[in-house]
Amino acid sequence: MEQAELFVRYARLVDAAAIAAITAEYARQGIMLERSPDNIVENIRNFFVAEYNGEVIGCCAIAFYTQKLAEIRSLAVFNRYKMKGIGRLLVEKAEVVLREEGVKEVFVLTLSREFFSRIGYSEIRKEYFPQKIWKDCTHCPKLMACDEIAMVKTL
Ligand SMILES: CC(C)(COP(=O)(O)OP(=O)(O)OC[C@H]1O[C@@H](n2cnc3c(N)ncnc32)[C@H](O)[C@@H]1OP(=O)(O)O)[C@@H](O)C(=O)NCCC(=O)NCCS
Repeated sequence: MEQAELFVRYARLVDAAAIAAITAEYARQGIMLERSPDNIVENIRNFFVAEYNGEVIGCCAIAFYTQKLAEIRSLAVFNRYKMKGIGRLLVEKAEVVLREEGVKEVFVLTLSREFFSRIGYSEIRKEYFPQKIWKDCTHCPKLMACDEIAMVKTL
């Protein structure tokens, strides 16, 4: 894609509806957890978006667990823009910010093993991350039948 028209930036409040639309598409398919517009607004400072020709076409968020450990979550690229390097750009931007904060290890809970493997993440047992399991997973409708894997990268 033409790089001059494509960039990743911090999300702004006006992007909340676009972020909700991108994640809702995959939540309907059971691929990721839905983020409500209210929840996105509350967490907007943790979101990044990919913008192409003025349109928000992808998003991801960071969540801090300790000073050394963070998660990348809510990563999604609109279907028609997949496989063009946008997911990679979003994760790279999040990783730059995490490194600047001194974070040493970043993890994801995901069904997208091939993508994350391609960009340097390795599979690890979910039990390695108790904070995540207890903070969010207890509210997840998939709790007893979780099909996501945990993957981690050292920054
Ligand atoms: C996962 C997702 C964000 C990837 O975004 P993307 O923009 O399509 O990925 P990229 O084009 O940046 O891919 C980067 C690399 O991973 C590879 N890759 C991406 N998706 C892949 C897949 N499904 N299978 C195999 N390889 C894949 C690409 O070929 C590319 O490889 P390269 O190093 O040879 O160039 C996107 O598929 C998506 O939105 N999926 C639905 C939501 C989701 O599962 N989110 C993850 C929740 S944590």
